[in-house]
Amino acid sequence: MAQDRHRIILDCDPGQDDAIAILLALGSPDEIELLAITTVAGNVPLRLTELNARKILELAGRADIPVYKGCHRPLVEPLETAEYVHGETGLNGVDLPEPRMKLTEGHAVDAIIEIVMAAPAATITLCPTGPLTNIAMALLKEPELAARVKDIVLMGGAIGLGNVTPAAEFNIYVDPHAARVVFESGVPITMLGLDVTHQALVNRPRLEAIRALGTPVASAAAGLVDFFNRFDSDRYEVDGAPLHDPCVIAQLIDPTIFKGKPCHVAIETEGGSKGRTNVDWFPREQRVANATVINEMDADRFFALLTERLARL
Ligand code: RIB
Ligand code: CA
Repeated sequence: MAQDRHRIILDCDPGQDDAIAILLALGSPDEIELLAITTVAGNVPLRLTELNARKILELAGRADIPVYKGCHRPLVEPLETAEYVHGETGLNGVDLPEPRMKLTEGHAVDAIIEIVMAAPAATITLCPTGPLTNIAMALLKEPELAARVKDIVLMGGAIGLGNVTPAAEFNIYVDPHAARVVFESGVPITMLGLDVTHQALVNRPRLEAIRALGTPVASAAAGLVDFFNRFDSDRYEVDGAPLHDPCVIAQLIDPTIFKGKPCHVAIETEGGSKGRTNVDWFPREQRVANATVINEMDADRFFALLTERLARL
């Protein structure tokens, strides 16, 4: 029997890799029901992340999916953005038209609460691919949310080195207090951090396979990835950038592409290691695991899946 579809809310900060995650979800209707996109400040300010989400949905002909605007800054820290990676618009690499679709009325935090609380228990998956501000605010505002949501599958953190500081990955670094709320919530979490996403390098052959699809969506995706490649491939001196956020959606579509194990994850919120995810991988401390931490993937299978699903749009 076909598995039930994953009913998800994608909370994101587009961002080229967030955009590819949206497209992968849209190209996988047998496995993913994308209920809503909620947007948060991160890669670029909120006024751009919400606009970019609407641009990508219109590119894919899916203006029927609601987009909500969420938190414009982290819980405590000042907002730090990443135009140095994503460009001034957040979607540099493609020039998409102004969207005709409007934002859906209401705050993203309220939308997350309303959608989850209106659905049968344990049927909605939250998929954050940006800073965790909206998710944390929803957990704080609705005391029953943690017990009601099915799980959280997120891109963020690292077992090893960070990418903003040696200690911290961007999504957790930008809002470490929100990350602490989420990781201490008791909600089942699957964490896809840099250790695994850095195995999803979109090298030239993989990029050209996407471009060769020849559709407007694939051409736009190739343009986004081509731009996204330039910063990380120079910094890490590798052939291609890590395509972080689509790993979240791929993990839902085909979990066999990925490997990991339950670990305790603690979040540092202060000092030079602010934003660090301390993953007790071995484990050294006797604390109950609060996340399944993914550390391995089959990149060839991932890119084959991504290319095949983009071809459907
Ligand atoms: O560290 C990578 C993550 O930060 C990705 O989600 C990227 O889009 C940025 O949000
Ligand atoms: Ca992101």
